[in-house]
Amino acid sequence: MQRTAIGGAGFLIATNSLSSDLAASTPTSASSSMIGVPFEARERVRLGIIGVGGRGTSLLEDLLAIENVEVKAICDLLPGKVARAQRAVTNAGQAEPASFSKGEWDFKNLTELDLDIVYIATPWNWHVPMALTAMKNGKHAAVEVPACTTLQECWDLVDTSEATRKHCVILENCCYGSTEMMVLGMVRDGVFGEITHGEAAYLHDLRSILTSSEGEGLWRRFPHIQRNGNLYPTHGLGPVAHYMDIHRGDRFDYMVSVSSSEASLSAYVKANFADRDPKRAEKYICGDMNTSIIKTLKGRTILLQHDVVNPRPYSRLNSISGTKGGAFADYPPRVFVDGSKQEDWQNIDAFRDKYEHPLWKTTGELARKMGGHGGMDYIMNYRLMDCLKRGLVPDINCYDAAAWSAPTPLSEASVAQNGAPQKFPDFTRGKENVHSDSPGFALQT
Ligand SMILES: NC(=O)c1ccc[n+]([C@@H]2O[C@H](COP(=O)([O-])OP(=O)(O)OC[C@H]3O[C@@H](n4cnc5c(N)ncnc54)[C@H](O)[C@@H]3O)[C@@H](O)[C@H]2O)c1
Repeated sequence: MQRTAIGGAGFLIATNSLSSDLAASTPTSASSSMIGVPFEARERVRLGIIGVGGRGTSLLEDLLAIENVEVKAICDLLPGKVARAQRAVTNAGQAEPASFSKGEWDFKNLTELDLDIVYIATPWNWHVPMALTAMKNGKHAAVEVPACTTLQECWDLVDTSEATRKHCVILENCCYGSTEMMVLGMVRDGVFGEITHGEAAYLHDLRSILTSSEGEGLWRRFPHIQRNGNLYPTHGLGPVAHYMDIHRGDRFDYMVSVSSSEASLSAYVKANFADRDPKRAEKYICGDMNTSIIKTLKGRTILLQHDVVNPRPYSRLNSISGTKGGAFADYPPRVFVDGSKQEDWQNIDAFRDKYEHPLWKTTGELARKMGGHGGMDYIMNYRLMDCLKRGLVPDINCYDAAAWSAPTPLSEASVAQNGAPQKFPDFTRGKENVHSDSPGFALQT
């Protein structure tokens, strides 16, 4: 993958060529599947983190609150951020972790240490080189969202996970929300009948973050100059993929996508930055609202939207409907059950006693206290560490990481072709049914 330096602070943004991306839609190796492969059990988890900006710092706080997790190494471009993270580790009573801050490839040295798993919370263009290096050096990789941004990168994650027999987990915290885990339990219990449609989105006004002079403002705006499509598909899509048993009996087949015109980010920059500010010369091509429809092999549909620049309340849509006349919709979370005395939506709390996930029952109080995104971050980290310690199959694997991230290049290609359908590669290589009768997401306890 070609890398081009643009933007401030030496950040590199991946350039993505549509033609090479489309050519990359076939697998390059035929190693055996990672579906259903358990972690090796261990008493303690030795962990390294690459990237301790906003997200890495928050993940670190959670990890330090989990028993028998040792944070052994920290890497960031900025030595000050590494020192801050090291202090957090020693303040938690652990030995000072090794530090790596000697340039943008120093993370390689971290992956050569004696570690079980490497967390990656860096800008998007670094996720794949870091995850590949970690797996090739014998470590499991846990990658922030989106895991990858081109089809070639999707395949690189899958091929390397299969070849090294190391897991590549996407850190999709929204799958661990209290509501999402409850709804998954209701789906599995048949409350909604056979699911035929779902809605997923990332609708979040990020204008001030995108244009900030620190943190994500240093890199996250640049894809808006380079790509027109859904730049951040996984927060909404991960939970809906679980409701629909994607890679556990079904699979994304193809998608169509259109983008609205671009107006909001350029208007915001014009209104908030002086004429001489370099941002005023930037040309954004990413439409304000990108709308896609995914069709699954079993014929289900998913509405998938992305809008990070219009002023509006936060939403991931997060809704499903099925044959029994049952439906769930979020924001606020509500359930409609056909034939019940209630003729309108019922608050989801009415179902909490029966359907709250065991992880939330046992760990929810601490998770809410830790606070990250209402507690879902802690539940995700707790669960991943628990799977590592007990030698369980991870809830989320390289196929999920690839398929949930693939809507970025596929939406970009569809938008460029006036909404023409784009096939999802079969990242599982025909194995999507192999574990359809296994316990499934977060149910192996
Ligand atoms: N799951 C969530 O809810 C959630 C929330 C926020 C961000 N994220 C994701 O987390 C990732 C990081 O986002 P953030 O908000 O922390 O951004 P950030 O800019 O605050 O932090 C990124 C950090 O990575 C470091 N970095 C950059 N290149 C590096 C390199 N080559 N080697 C070592 N360190 C390097 C930077 O110095 C910075 O400290 C992104 O992928 C983002 O999409 C996820």
